[in-house]
Amino acid sequence: MHLIETRDLCYVYPGEVKALHNINFIAPRNARIAVIGSNGAGKSTLFKHFNGIFKPTSGSVLVRGEPITRQNTKEIRKFVGIVFQNPDDQIFAPTVEQDVAFGPVNLGLDPETIHHRVHEALRVVGIEHLAGRVPHHLSGGEKKRVAIAGVIAMEPEVLVLDEPNAGLDPRGVADLNMFINSLAKKYGMTVIFSTHDVGLVPEIADYIYVMDKGRIVASGTVEEIFIQPDMLKSVRLDVPVIPKLLKSLKENGVEVSMAYTYAEAETALLRSFGKQS
Ligand SMILES: Nc1ncnc2c1ncn2[C@@H]1O[C@H](COP(=O)(O)OP(=O)(O)OP(=O)(O)O)[C@@H](O)[C@H]1O
Ligand SMILES: [Mg+2]
Repeated sequence: MHLIETRDLCYVYPGEVKALHNINFIAPRNARIAVIGSNGAGKSTLFKHFNGIFKPTSGSVLVRGEPITRQNTKEIRKFVGIVFQNPDDQIFAPTVEQDVAFGPVNLGLDPETIHHRVHEALRVVGIEHLAGRVPHHLSGGEKKRVAIAGVIAMEPEVLVLDEPNAGLDPRGVADLNMFINSLAKKYGMTVIFSTHDVGLVPEIADYIYVMDKGRIVASGTVEEIFIQPDMLKSVRLDVPVIPKLLKSLKENGVEVSMAYTYAEAETALLRSFGKQS
């Protein structure tokens, strides 16, 4: 049984904008899935179906094998946590601490557990020092971290992040990568995220869906997707710099093995220069 599955999901916005066409998407347990696609591809619209914010115009969405209904929506929202693209859609309490506590309070947890979860979530995203601040007076990247903390304090089994790296500084992006990998590895959490930043994808994804104009145009592992430069170009994306560079070196006679992440590339290049890492 898959944690999330959509079957021939179609969605039309009021005013007849057809945003999703026959989407068949699967999130197995403990996967790290990237959904990549250019502006307007349908990523955010798809994500809003994963916990019942949007209802399919046709087709279906199954969570743990069950269709989302009015009766199970509350349960499903505990299980699938979504961090929206725009943190202003998610943040509303007078302080950061209260904002992050909102979900756990609604779960009816005891005050000690709430306190523990809130402070752990703030620590994980590196904003414990902002606990007493007014969220609306924070910078864009700080707000983004508050929104992420608010969702992870709910301890969902599936964490959905819509453009999590947009607006974060380089250290913030590196922290986010580490954090996503540790959630998946240590806690067995399933992570689904969207991005246009293809360079980020090999660092944190095992499986990729490529979307364009409301359709899934390709899906596969990092190796399967990033050997298709023409397909990626046709949807206004590109191959990440690391595999592009290594491919070019190989084509120019350098004996180096293919790599996708920074760490793999470093090892491959050192080996190629006769310097074992
Ligand atoms: N509220 C809305 N009403 C009508 N059309 C909408 C609405 N929201 C989005 N759309 C349209 O649906 C399509 C998909 O939009 P969506 O926001 O899902 O794309 P996206 O892949 O998340 O893009 P981005 O990378 O810019 O975040 C676009 O054509 C968009 O114009
Ligand atoms: Mg979007």
